[in-house]
Amino acid sequence: MSSTPEMAGKASQIITCKAAVCWGPEEPLKVEEIQVEPPRASELRVRMICASTCHTDILCWNGFPAVSSGADLLPEEPVLVFVMEGLTSLVIFHGFLQALFPRVMGHEGVGVVESVGEGVTGFKEGDTVIPTVLGECGECPNCVSNKTNLCFKHPVLLHGLMPDGTSRMSVRGQPLYHLINCSTFSEYMVVDASFAVKVPPRLQPEHATLFSCGFATGFGAVWKEAKLEEGSTAAVFGLGGVGMGVRVYAHIMSICANVPKIDESPTTQWVQAIAAAKSLGAAKIIGVDVKETRREKAVELGMTDFINPKELDGDGKTTPEAIKEMTGGLGVDYSIECSGAAPLVNQAFQATVPGKGVTIVVGASNEVAISINLLELIIGKMLKGSLYGGIKPQTDIPVLFDKCINEGLPLDGLVTHEVGLGDVNHAYELLKLPECLKVLITFDGAKEYPSRP
Ligand SMILES: NC(=O)c1ccc[n+]([C@@H]2O[C@H](COP(=O)([O-])OP(=O)(O)OC[C@H]3O[C@@H](n4cnc5c(N)ncnc54)[C@H](O)[C@@H]3O)[C@@H](O)[C@H]2O)c1
Ligand SMILES: [Zn+2]
Ligand SMILES: [Zn+2]
Repeated sequence: MSSTPEMAGKASQIITCKAAVCWGPEEPLKVEEIQVEPPRASELRVRMICASTCHTDILCWNGFPAVSSGADLLPEEPVLVFVMEGLTSLVIFHGFLQALFPRVMGHEGVGVVESVGEGVTGFKEGDTVIPTVLGECGECPNCVSNKTNLCFKHPVLLHGLMPDGTSRMSVRGQPLYHLINCSTFSEYMVVDASFAVKVPPRLQPEHATLFSCGFATGFGAVWKEAKLEEGSTAAVFGLGGVGMGVRVYAHIMSICANVPKIDESPTTQWVQAIAAAKSLGAAKIIGVDVKETRREKAVELGMTDFINPKELDGDGKTTPEAIKEMTGGLGVDYSIECSGAAPLVNQAFQATVPGKGVTIVVGASNEVAISINLLELIIGKMLKGSLYGGIKPQTDIPVLFDKCINEGLPLDGLVTHEVGLGDVNHAYELLKLPECLKVLITFDGAKEYPSRP
């Protein structure tokens, strides 16, 4: 690669560092010495401070985006879903749906920019950044519509490569797949600047990492997608790292008292959403999880009720029936599916009120197809999928950071365990424990960064 005078020095050098490599589905990760190339024109190379786990890491470890059933529904050829004139990136969203190994795992994290590509504006060496699930160009038809966060120019990447279709990581000369658009279980990663957001110095890295994916997704699912109104009822299926984001939102709503004037600024949208639902303390938020350990925390963080489907089995009652019983027979206004158990999508859908019930599907799975009750759809219920909880990274993440610093978000309970990169396999074991929500992955030498308040 040719280097400009500005890029002279470390920005043009390959870095050898340690990373967690997965060589095949469900194989233990190997912490290996890998090579990380310099950032290309639009990219940042980042030295990681810490990373965190999200269930999608497990999904990818199982082979995602390869699928476990419903393969007959797949197209025979790779599909380019969005191909738009005038956009620099062609988007491979659906991709080729095959397991992507060997692969460096992890997509939540925070780190310090070590070097920048020559075309990057808005970031410099020494900035603290997080990678985000998708980008926000602010100009494509979807960004302009303000109805969705699915930017056509910088969409979620499932092909395990950088937006230009190549990899920046290799081991012993063999290219490695990335995970989503980065790979955070590595001492160094490369991310396109369009998929990164700057972190304010006062934000703790242990909190910042959570905004890369899981927490922001759960929080956004209610803030940006469901947009709960005052007095609404909601059910949250799956109270893990993502479901916790929903609970934190509920908690904030219940302590917020001021109803602001209506305008469209992101900050005010936030306050509106909180204020609109401030009475949720009195309304119902029903948590659903098979793990009994989630009950106490769910109620502590603003949920009014908890259902353990395993306990219902003896009564011959289904979860939607139990939810309807708790809501005067009608069902909830909003269901948020964040378990990733495919059959729960229909349960979440069935649990909503006819005519106006909305189900937001966040949970991802290796199943291609789900069944939905057609009659329930016809009677006016809505089903909406959501990536990153509808969060527009450039617009919304700074608002969340600001709230986190100035008003506090109860994020400490989200990370329940911590391991060094060398023990990354232990993180996967910890995630099986009922009391484990998220595991923080730390890197040797990261302590030298002055990112703490
Ligand atoms: N759409 C997106 O942008 C996006 C972003 C992040 C995560 N995800 C997906 O969201 C899902 C949740 O992620 P997470 O990190 O919170 O996972 P997690 O493993 O921390 O939590 C999942 C929770 O669901 C519960 N659960 C599983 N099966 C259940 C069942 N049959 N009935 C009731 N409860 C059940 C588990 O006990 C657990 O508490 C995953 O599928 C993940 O891939 C999607
Ligand atoms: Zn866009
Ligand atoms: Zn994730």
